[in-house]
Amino acid sequence: MSITVFGSVNLDLTVSVHHLPIAGETSHAAGFQTGLGGKGANQAVAATRLAKCPVKFVAAVGEDSFADKLRADLQKMTVDTANLVTMKGAESGIALIHVDQSSQNSITVVGGANMAWPDAGPCADVFKGCKVALFQLETPIPATLAAMRAARAAGAVVILDPAPIAEGHMEALIAEADIVTPNETETAAITGTMPGNFLEAQTLAKSLVAMGPKVAIVKLGAKGLAYASRHDGEGVIKPYFVKAIDTVAAGDSFNGGLAAALAEGWSLQDALKFAAAAGALATTRRGAGEAVPSRQEVDDLVAAN
Ligand code: RIB
Repeated sequence: MSITVFGSVNLDLTVSVHHLPIAGETSHAAGFQTGLGGKGANQAVAATRLAKCPVKFVAAVGEDSFADKLRADLQKMTVDTANLVTMKGAESGIALIHVDQSSQNSITVVGGANMAWPDAGPCADVFKGCKVALFQLETPIPATLAAMRAARAAGAVVILDPAPIAEGHMEALIAEADIVTPNETETAAITGTMPGNFLEAQTLAKSLVAMGPKVAIVKLGAKGLAYASRHDGEGVIKPYFVKAIDTVAAGDSFNGGLAAALAEGWSLQDALKFAAAAGALATTRRGAGEAVPSRQEVDDLVAAN
């Protein structure tokens, strides 16, 4: 039994700024940091730290010096790199990130090797014995769809974080998932409505379930989350109160935590509380992969609430 993450790995170039840049503005940054990122890599770090079963990470780097750093960073965080492939002639993925004083961020991704997967996706063998499979959208859509189908054929629960939004493909992607975990902006892009409160988020989660998945979770950031499901009812999970300084990778930590808890056979409610604690703790430290909390920290936060 294992968890498999198929997704991106990026070198994150992060600047801390007073406010997010506006068009035409030149400003000074208060700090600069490089680190391991990419929604796939962050989810893989989170699943590796939080799960009690083996975790496979299926991803691509380029033929450049960044590739060695990314591989080394993944290994330092004990992520299994056996399925990290090198795309010939490609450059490794990069993300340019601004984080402002109120911990909000804006991210621009240069996909590079992450976008070089063939339409057939990775070898279906990577999903053999997989109980939960995680996907996001920083990989090409045909390859991602093929991988989601391979995971489903292997008997895995398929979780899709629909980020970033892939215009024109969202219906097909959502129909292929068992669980979807959009944030507010992604929910608005998919359904046409921005959730204004818990009740609206729950209604929108129901409309996402109507598109095919068994469960839809609308992440509301510091406000918590709302969910709807075919078999486990609907509800909300209140937020954990933490001192947030950087929200990058909070959603990825949430998804890794969700996969870890579901792989252990937890109920949806308990899995959501665990995942929400993982996401909250990630906001209390800077960076992406480095910001993912340990199992002990998450267990402690859940127990204290
Ligand atoms: O979700 C956060 C991640 O988005 C960053 O690590 C960045 O690389 C982008 O992929």
